[in-house]
Amino acid sequence: MPILHVVGARPNFMKIAPLMAALARRGVPQRLVHTGQHFDERMSGIFFQELGLPRPDEDLGVGSGGHGEQTGRAMIALERSLLATVPRPDLVVVPGDVNSTLAAALVAAKLGIPVAHVEAGLRSHDRTMPEEVNRVAVDHVADLLLTPSPDADENLAREGIPAARVRRVGNLMIDTLRRHLPAARARAVPERLGLTPGRYAVLTLHRPSNVDDPAVLRALLEAVTALARTLPVVFPVHPRTRARLAGAAAPGGSGATGLLLVEPMGYLEFLSLTSAARLVLTDSGGLQEETTALGVPCLTLRENTERPITVTEGTNEVVGTDPARILAAARRALDGRIRRGRLPALWDGEAGERAAEAVVAFVAERRGASRAGHREAAPALADAPGP
Ligand code: UD1
Repeated sequence: MPILHVVGARPNFMKIAPLMAALARRGVPQRLVHTGQHFDERMSGIFFQELGLPRPDEDLGVGSGGHGEQTGRAMIALERSLLATVPRPDLVVVPGDVNSTLAAALVAAKLGIPVAHVEAGLRSHDRTMPEEVNRVAVDHVADLLLTPSPDADENLAREGIPAARVRRVGNLMIDTLRRHLPAARARAVPERLGLTPGRYAVLTLHRPSNVDDPAVLRALLEAVTALARTLPVVFPVHPRTRARLAGAAAPGGSGATGLLLVEPMGYLEFLSLTSAARLVLTDSGGLQEETTALGVPCLTLRENTERPITVTEGTNEVVGTDPARILAAARRALDGRIRRGRLPALWDGEAGERAAEAVVAFVAERRGASRAGHREAAPALADAPGP
């Protein structure tokens, strides 16, 4: 049983799907474990179905909790699962930067099982962001680092990670986007919401730094409500944000103000919505990349990004959380005063193939090395005195 993939939260699913498909085409045996960090149908189940992912071989059901609690529960359950798995996997693959990614990487590394990290090397250089801690820790225990862009390679080199462990394969999430874009467009979500394609904005917000502090959340909603007076804004609300909004003064909340709050969407519905948007405002990481691939202007409501290539080459602008700055950037974008951007190299729909090649070569090399090790050890054993 050579390859074990561990996923847990929404953004993991679109990153693992192209790699699993490419490995399946090569006949490589694989298993999929879901930690259960995300558990709602709308945050998890629907993605498996839409992305053609196999049903997980195991769901560890760890659920929500504090960082230590959630990561710890995932580690305990994963360690038990791996110890009970015979034969042990040759490689554990972890995508992204969520708590499940960290848990799986640490458990595998401590059991002496090699780790491959999909989307290695991204850095916001902001350690107050939980994902940044996860990224750094995972990259430093990983044996095979699959990177999306040159900035990621540079970050890893700066941190002393040997280049021999790094393979730049491109952006796997964009493979998923390209594959599903026609089916997504066919869903006609803007029309179903009563919107005109190209004449609305999309908003997502879920970072603790934006939604857990009522003052920051209020300021963001103030900016968005002002924008919604001139351009309708669709806001699919993440469960964490929904809970925070319940405690805050609800932002208008109805279509009358131009701000439309809706439930989290599945992959195809959301892609249908973003692909025809005039503008996206977000604190998500993945959406910064998806808008660059789609050529849709994106305003990132954070002070930094771990995906600088979306700014230097794509359509992304990091605007922070100050309402005046957000509105000024939105006005520029609506006036067409925004760079068109270009698709970064290796965001070409073939990243899953390159990642699969790297994985297969890594496993073959390790097996070769371990066979050679046994051969070398054999004469010594034969020479050893009998009991
Ligand atoms: C996690 C990731 C984040 C990623 C995001 C995508 C970490 C540290 N963070 O953040 O990087 O961008 O997923 O969504 O791993 N909840 C539900 N149903 C679910 C899942 C969550 O209701 O299926 C609620 C729970 O109340 C939970 C809260 O959402 O407490 C937050 O979930 P959690 O997995 O802790 O973090 P996210 O904010 O989703």
